[in-house]
Amino acid sequence: MRWVGNDEKRPHLTQPSPSRGAEREKICDWLSEGLDHLWLPYAQMKTAPAPLPVTRTEGCRIFLDDGRVLIDGIASWWTACHGYNHPHIAAAIARQLAAMPHVMFAGLTHEPAARLATRLAALLPGDLERVFFSESGSVAIEIALKIARQYWRNRGAPRDKFVAFRGGYHGDTAAAMAVSDPAIGMHGRGRGLLPDQLIADLPRNEASAARLDALLAREAPSIAALIVEPLVQGAGGMIFHDAATLRRVHAAADRHGVLLIADEIFTGFGRTGALFACAAAGIVPDIITLSKALTGGVLPLAATIARSPVFEAFLSDDDEAALMHGPTFMANALACAAANAALDLFALEDRLRQAAALETALNHELAPCRKLSGVRDVRVKGAIGVVELDRIADHAALRRRFLEEGVWIRPFGNIVYLTPSFIIDEDELAALTRAIRRVLGG
Ligand SMILES: Cc1ncc(COP(=O)(O)O)c(C=O)c1O
Repeated sequence: MRWVGNDEKRPHLTQPSPSRGAEREKICDWLSEGLDHLWLPYAQMKTAPAPLPVTRTEGCRIFLDDGRVLIDGIASWWTACHGYNHPHIAAAIARQLAAMPHVMFAGLTHEPAARLATRLAALLPGDLERVFFSESGSVAIEIALKIARQYWRNRGAPRDKFVAFRGGYHGDTAAAMAVSDPAIGMHGRGRGLLPDQLIADLPRNEASAARLDALLAREAPSIAALIVEPLVQGAGGMIFHDAATLRRVHAAADRHGVLLIADEIFTGFGRTGALFACAAAGIVPDIITLSKALTGGVLPLAATIARSPVFEAFLSDDDEAALMHGPTFMANALACAAANAALDLFALEDRLRQAAALETALNHELAPCRKLSGVRDVRVKGAIGVVELDRIADHAALRRRFLEEGVWIRPFGNIVYLTPSFIIDEDELAALTRAIRRVLGG
């Protein structure tokens, strides 16, 4: 039997029977059975409401098992930048599947990976030209941290610490958690996991720039790298900084001879309005990480890309100096084919013009939220629209109201945000922003 009620009636995952049995009858069979075996992300499994069963996606729409259709404001954690089921990406994957879905990447290679590496090197600023593929953003970060540490070992002067920024988030694996701001909630438990990390304020003004400078002056001989999310700190609260701040980070790293890792897993591929935030700010980090929209959100793929001098520090007659890393699904051929097709679309369908139009529309349509009580700030950068509330929201209540409005918007902390697909049309975007105005307006 299909579930038909509103979200409030949705069963909690581990409610004791017998209520559980009765509630279970309201959801579709596969979900009812699966809930006994699924472990869901970022969820207290005792109390979390059951997730919505999705049967299909198309463009900017999510189709639910009970017949409802939601307009998607998140683009699946901002991966589906070309919309769901884009025929150009689907066709590329189908062709690749017929030829070869995957081969191991050690001792073997293939055209989709070689072409993708060449294209990424050409698109990225400066001499960021050595591409190491992996399967998720967090792993790309682990690899970046590992490269930075070994870079210094290979140069005969080991350094193990990292400087990360307050508000930063870099993933859920151990080292990625360790360089995320421990204060942003979900990663407090990562502190101390490894590696050594120092958390600094972004140098937004002279005082914080001086503090960063002093920290680096003191600690530089033990610091392998600084790690920053350029222009937008995403999961830490959709916090923006300007290009001048990013340039100060870059200049400080340069001045003190510390590597700079730019995590563009959120910001890359047009999300801030430029193809890459670093390029827009006119900086070339030593290492950059990409994932999320790399394949248009269709298949998991990530890349850690190093500048030539970093790569050259690994060239040696000594095998010990090599980067000892090689994920099983590294450079998966289907994912690389999807990524090549996704890159085509930035030219074929002029995504950056769409991102610019989205920035204008989001600014216009979210502006009235400034007058709503309980709203602290409204901000927009590229295709990111944010309404910051005075206090932590009642997420379950907000989610329920958004579902009633027919939209998929998933607030976190005190943040209600939109990161829609670039292909979203005016009416769909209007439905999303109207829903935010109505739901927050009470
Ligand atoms: C900036 C940033 N870095 C790293 C990650 C981790 O990526 P993944 O979830 O693919 O491991 C995320 C995910 O949201 C992110 O936004």
